[in-house]
Amino acid sequence: MQFMTVDEIARHTLADHERGEEISPGVVVERRTILRFGVATAGFAAVSGLGLAGCASRAKNSGSPANTRGTKPACAASADEFVAAVMPQARALIAAPAPDEEAYLAAVTALLARVESPPTWRASPASRDWSMDTIAYYPPIVLMQIKMAPRSVIHLHDHRHYNGVLLATQGAARCRNFDIVQPDGKRLDIAAGEVPGKGEDFLIRQNADTVLRPRQLSTLTRDRDNIHHVEAGDEGATLVDFFTHFSPKARSYELSWDGKAYDEAKGLYKVAWKDA
Ligand SMILES: [Fe+2]
Repeated sequence: MQFMTVDEIARHTLADHERGEEISPGVVVERRTILRFGVATAGFAAVSGLGLAGCASRAKNSGSPANTRGTKPACAASADEFVAAVMPQARALIAAPAPDEEAYLAAVTALLARVESPPTWRASPASRDWSMDTIAYYPPIVLMQIKMAPRSVIHLHDHRHYNGVLLATQGAARCRNFDIVQPDGKRLDIAAGEVPGKGEDFLIRQNADTVLRPRQLSTLTRDRDNIHHVEAGDEGATLVDFFTHFSPKARSYELSWDGKAYDEAKGLYKVAWKDA
């Protein structure tokens, strides 16, 4: 299966490497990747002590998708520090009666741009041309790394009950984002996970088509650009994916399509859920 449920992410993370384990020649895991409560609490203190919030970044961020370009971050942070810094905002976001996902993602991307690429990597399953490794999972947030072989494709899928940031760290990947077109006579609450039914053809509109290179990113909310298709360039790609789950039901569902525009001028494509 291409995408994991929240339970699968938890099992995957708990089954992660042990401290001291050598996962590839010369690469020894320094810590388990799951963040337990005590570690996270220590992390909050560490972030305050480091003054991460006040650390100036040279990364540019204009607030729209796929827009961060810049040089190396002015003040690097570890994944733990990032998680600790973002956690209060993530918890406030999902508890809010009217969550402001755009403001949250703008704040998160500024911090994510400073995170150092994780040094370790789980051996990729041979049957896949891309793979994901959990860097940190501390509900409601997940930080993952994706490695894509040259020209490999992460097929069209949604992000139901969660938002995300996709940040390129190596190589290049073409990222196309889409929204569900509201069917005639209906008003779906897409942010709440209300989508066209199984077995039903429906239309999506392409909103963005961008090649992400290192330090460039793409964001999506529960009801903006929530469906995407990612294709690695000739040299492959490494990306960091950051997710915030609004519900234990958060997961992705794949869509089928023929890739041909239904209405080219309007950027519309006909799709259906593959296994929803
Ligand atoms: Fe995705």
